[in-house]
Amino acid sequence: MGVAAKLPGPARRVAVRSTRGIVRALGLKGRSELAFWTDVWDRSIRDGNLWGERALELSGDDSIAEDYVGRRWQQARAEVNRVLEEASIDDRNYFDGKVVVDIGPGCVGFPDACPAKRSFGVDPLAEAYREAGLLLESEAVYLDVPAEDIPLLSGTVDVVVCRNSLDHVDRPTTVLSEIHRLLRTGGELILNVDLDHPASPTEPHEISRESLRSWLADFEILREQEWDHGHAGSDQPGHAIVIVAQKPL
Ligand SMILES: C[S@@+](CC[C@H](N)C(=O)[O-])C[C@H]1O[C@@H](n2cnc3c(N)ncnc32)[C@H](O)[C@@H]1O
Repeated sequence: MGVAAKLPGPARRVAVRSTRGIVRALGLKGRSELAFWTDVWDRSIRDGNLWGERALELSGDDSIAEDYVGRRWQQARAEVNRVLEEASIDDRNYFDGKVVVDIGPGCVGFPDACPAKRSFGVDPLAEAYREAGLLLESEAVYLDVPAEDIPLLSGTVDVVVCRNSLDHVDRPTTVLSEIHRLLRTGGELILNVDLDHPASPTEPHEISRESLRSWLADFEILREQEWDHGHAGSDQPGHAIVIVAQKPL
């Protein structure tokens, strides 16, 4: 009898077999997150759409691709341009030659389309996403670990992107310490956070701008911008903040 067969009912239904030959059961947070990507996000793209505001324009194309993989790459390019635009970075070559780490990339493909020297995605669901066929094939390296403990050397990363994921992690302040550790001196953090929304299974933290600023005490904030933004892509009112911060020289 395999390990999965010994698990209790609800967990057994969501057991994920990884290429490492182990069976992992996702908790409620992981199951809810994965269900969003498979049942909502990916389904929409399979149905012929792109996801999110102005995705086609941000992809740089004139029309939505006919095939699924084409739409996935359009979406991925759109997310790279979205990150730059939200951070008011006009230099389209900003990522060139850099080591870039994306915290909580989900399946949107930022690490895949990012034109960096090396591009990493850090997400504890990375293996589950890959198993579900949700990751693009690219030279990006996905690490199937929580961002509270990232197996990369200190001071080796030029840019960390953390978009719509700080409220999803288990320990936001530990993640910010880990980002600080990874960044080289003068390296930059592009942080985008949905503020003040009620906690949910996938977003266990309600984050205010005041707590965010205090958590960034070890960084130098270069600029920040806040705007109204429907929470989680929905009609619920909400607002988001983008902070570009630097590990001080
Ligand atoms: C809403 S998605 C963000 C997707 C993408 N960054 C974007 O801009 O749309 C949040 C992601 O954070 C991931 N996540 C949850 N806990 C995490 C942790 N401890 N460390 C890193 N990522 C985590 C989730 O698995 C999920 O893929």
